[in-house]
Amino acid sequence: MEVKTSLLDNMIGVGDMVLLEPLNEDSFIMNLRNRFDHNEIYTYIGSVVISMNPYRSLPIYTPQKVEEYRNRNFYELSPHIYALADEAYRSLRDQDKDQCILITGESGAGKTEASKLVMSYVAAVCGKGQEVNKVKEQLLQSNPVLEAFGNAKTMRNDNSSRFGKYMDIEFDFKGDPLGGVISNYLLEKSRVCKQPRGERNFHIFYQLLSGASDDTLVKLKLDRDFSKYNYLSLDSANVNGLDDAASFRTVRNAMQIVGFMEAEVQSVLELVAAVLKLGNIEFKPESRVNGFDESRVKDKNDLKEMCELLGIEQSVLERAFSYRTVEAKMEKMSTTLNVAQAYYARDALAKNLYSRLFSWLVTRINESIKAQAKTRHKVMGVLDIYGFEIFEVRDNSFEQFIINYCNEKLQQIFIELTLREEQEEYIREDIEWTNIEYFNNAVICDLIENNQNGILAMLDEECLRPGTVTDDTFLDKLNTICAEHQHFESRLNKNSKFLTDHSLPHSCFRIQHYAGKVLYRVEGFVDKNNDLLYRDLSQAMYKATHSLMRQLFPEGNPAKVNLKRPPTAGFQFKASVGVLMKNLQTKNPNYIRCIKPNDKKVAHIFTDSLVCHQVRYLGLVENVRVRRAGYAFRQPYESCLERYKMLCKKTWPHWRGPARDGVEVLLTDCSVPTEEFAYGRSKIFIRNPRTLFTLEERRRACLEDLATLIQKIYRGWKSRTHFLLLKKSQVVVAAWYRRYAQQNKYQKIKSATLVMQSFIRGWKARNILRQLKYEKRCKEAVTTIAAYWHGTQARMELRRLKTEARNKRAVSVIWAYWQGTKVRREYRKFFRANAGKKIYDFTIQRIMQKYFLGLKTTTMSPMDNSWPAKPYGFLEGAHTQLRRIFHLWRCKKYRGQFTEEKKAVYEEKLEASEIFKDKKALYPSSVSQPFKGDYLEIQKNPKYQKLNSAMEEKVLLADLVNKINRANGKGSPRLFLLTKSNFVLADQKTGQVKASVPLPDLASVSVSTQSDGFFALKLKEGSASASKGDFLLSSEHLIEIITKLHRIGTTAADRDQINIDISDEFLVQFKQDKVCVKFIQGGPKNGNSAACKRKNNRLLEVSVPSP
Ligand SMILES: Nc1ncnc2c1ncn2[C@@H]1O[C@H](COP(=O)(O)OP(=O)(O)O)[C@@H](O)[C@H]1O
Ligand SMILES: [Mg+2]
Repeated sequence: MEVKTSLLDNMIGVGDMVLLEPLNEDSFIMNLRNRFDHNEIYTYIGSVVISMNPYRSLPIYTPQKVEEYRNRNFYELSPHIYALADEAYRSLRDQDKDQCILITGESGAGKTEASKLVMSYVAAVCGKGQEVNKVKEQLLQSNPVLEAFGNAKTMRNDNSSRFGKYMDIEFDFKGDPLGGVISNYLLEKSRVCKQPRGERNFHIFYQLLSGASDDTLVKLKLDRDFSKYNYLSLDSANVNGLDDAASFRTVRNAMQIVGFMEAEVQSVLELVAAVLKLGNIEFKPESRVNGFDESRVKDKNDLKEMCELLGIEQSVLERAFSYRTVEAKMEKMSTTLNVAQAYYARDALAKNLYSRLFSWLVTRINESIKAQAKTRHKVMGVLDIYGFEIFEVRDNSFEQFIINYCNEKLQQIFIELTLREEQEEYIREDIEWTNIEYFNNAVICDLIENNQNGILAMLDEECLRPGTVTDDTFLDKLNTICAEHQHFESRLNKNSKFLTDHSLPHSCFRIQHYAGKVLYRVEGFVDKNNDLLYRDLSQAMYKATHSLMRQLFPEGNPAKVNLKRPPTAGFQFKASVGVLMKNLQTKNPNYIRCIKPNDKKVAHIFTDSLVCHQVRYLGLVENVRVRRAGYAFRQPYESCLERYKMLCKKTWPHWRGPARDGVEVLLTDCSVPTEEFAYGRSKIFIRNPRTLFTLEERRRACLEDLATLIQKIYRGWKSRTHFLLLKKSQVVVAAWYRRYAQQNKYQKIKSATLVMQSFIRGWKARNILRQLKYEKRCKEAVTTIAAYWHGTQARMELRRLKTEARNKRAVSVIWAYWQGTKVRREYRKFFRANAGKKIYDFTIQRIMQKYFLGLKTTTMSPMDNSWPAKPYGFLEGAHTQLRRIFHLWRCKKYRGQFTEEKKAVYEEKLEASEIFKDKKALYPSSVSQPFKGDYLEIQKNPKYQKLNSAMEEKVLLADLVNKINRANGKGSPRLFLLTKSNFVLADQKTGQVKASVPLPDLASVSVSTQSDGFFALKLKEGSASASKGDFLLSSEHLIEIITKLHRIGTTAADRDQINIDISDEFLVQFKQDKVCVKFIQGGPKNGNSAACKRKNNRLLEVSVPSP
């Protein structure tokens, strides 16, 4: 919910001076002081903001504050400059009204700060975006540049603006800033040459000397030492809290952001340097024949450096400081300058140079920040201009006169606009308009600016008049012309009133400004108004090669010689003030009146007299009076009703119906006198603040009652709810507790029961266990006893039997001994000496007899390995020898039975054993098969008649073999014949010889280690038979064939032996290619025979069934 607040809440003093009661200067100042002491530096007079300079940073400018004041009504929150800025910005954006913010006050009152606060607030609340931010940044950064060149430390303010500034900020229809235009007014240029004690020249000089790099200084021909420059006052060169070097960097940065080119910055600095150099040029008198002194430059070094810096011919400038050319109507006259005139010319040049440079800066900034779009803009102007200046001690001069004139004009526009606004509101609200009596300062303005007999006009007239013109002649003129004016006072006035007024010196005149009387000393008025710069100097400047310099002195152009005098300072100022006033009049004004609480620039001090002085010349009390002229206070019906509805039963708590009627009912009910208020269209107008305060008072009292009521009801409600809650909670707690207690009790009983139960069960179990253990022990005892008893019996019986046996043996031993004894006794006579030996020999004989008879049963087969076991240990050697001898003998006997043929057969078998035993798995199965040789019975079989006859020698072996076809690994049957000198392969059916190979050509035979019948016959390389390649054959009688080949081949070829190669992988030469034959075990089980299969070009794989 939005919190509805009001300015009237928590007020310290009164937030709006309009409500001050009673209204007089003292109460006004008391109120300011009261608020100032409570850190409330802002106070309203209606919509005008009075701002007291706190001289310390207060936490009231934070982003949170900006948010707080954003989009709130003016009187909704406590007074703040943000409220004014917000109001102005919103009516600019939403109601399309151009705004101006007029900030006045004396030097050091916080005008510049206020203008910056307004700008920063607007920057914070207006639109965002890259382009918009750039514009904002440029607008904000124009400040440091202008402050560096236009501000200086003064007695009143360390950063005092020495120029007036008006800045128009332009916005588009959305309220986004587009750009701006800055106008400057009357730079205090006399400061360039001379500063009062304790004050400084413009900041930029000190900033340049402290902050520029050594390089830059060398380029500008400058020294870092302030004391070297006549134009810089030394006693306050360093100011506490001002870091000139850092500021210089800030300024350069700001210039860059604003859009100055590097070369432009350089030119500007060169001109600043030139001003410093200029100050150092000094003159000496030189006597002339005509008796007059003529000035000469004393030390030409500075002059030379300055000329180098600006590209001016030294002699030209030197001459310009010594002579002056006066042109009048085609005539040219040259007069010499004396030393004083030379100094005057020098200072005039410095002042002009600097002030023109400043104006150029403003123009240049304007070029950068001007709005790009050509569409219609909404404008918010911010005017930061010097307030009334009245020096009590120092005499007021031309500058003060001009400044006060400007303030007079501002006051006028203020009165005009405020009254106009007031009047417009009354008409808008349909309230009767009663004319208000107030002081209109138009007469004073007229006194100054009237074109015929105004002071400025007369000053101009005096300046332009031929003949001798002095400040005194000017005063005389004033005395004659303005004598009758009621706001003009002078000693020599015809008006005898002041003849004896000693507070008014003779060389002075006094003006009664709306803010008080000011005494002006006429000295310097004419000179300052003339603002004379000798043409020779401007022409010398124009001759410079420095382009900015030429730009600043266009009147020096000889092609455009203008004999007319340039407009006077007063005239120029009046014109620009006129333009400004016109400009302001088209806008909706917002006022900020700045007040300085003390002269010491410190916090917490409030000097009544000082404030009183300012309040007076700012015309603030007057301001309140104007504001209160008709009705002091006005408020929309809605907010009025909302605020005071509790004062009447009919409107409280809700009023149904139009707010206006509600307010009427309310005021009638409160019996407020009818002349105290008036009903507008949308607002109620209250004539007297007292009425408002009565209402406020009653409201406060009523609020207290209401608060008590609300408190009462709330407390009742709170206690009741609390009680009900407690009650409810108690029931819940009790229920839970009961449940808990019961649960606990039950758990206890349950566990007790369980304990008891377990004890009883344990007791019972232990009883039974004891019983059972007893029974078991009894049973065990019986068994043990029985066992022991049986053991005892058995042992007794054993003992008895043993005794019995011993007894028996004893009997037989005794009997044997007895017999022996008897025999020995009987044969003692026969035995005598050799009886023992004979008995021994006899016994041995018997044993041997028995042994040899046992050997008789042994068979004659050499294969029989049986032999009787050895009968006695002592025969062991004989026994084994006998066995060997017997076996050899048995073999001899066996061999003796062999015929020659059988012997040859066995020899072959033996050879087969040598070749194959333990090398080829097929061998063991062949041992028992006799080698038949001719399996085909080739001689008897008529089928092989022809073949047989073809054979030249005896056929030693004839068998059917398979020749393995290398192409597919399949076998084709062939007859294999072997004779003493060769082997032959012949067709099985026809018996035709296919190949006959002499045995010497046979190189080697390869077989596998496994139980297959494959063999390869490898022929000698290069032999006649080798051309057809090797033979890969298979046969059932492999062992026999190979053995025979080995035997016969060896003898036939007359060599050691044929190589028999036994391995599972060998190479066979088929015609050109070598093919590898590889044997693997456990091939496909297709029968019992091995199968050959061609795997690829180079590999034949023979799978042999596993045994
Ligand atoms: N609102 C403020 N809060 C804190 N200090 C302020 C405020 N306004 C002014 N000052 C102080 O007062 C000094 C003078 O203010 P300035 O705006 O330069 O005065 P003016 O422009 O009126 O001569 C500032 O340098 C600053 O220290
Ligand atoms: Mg200022």
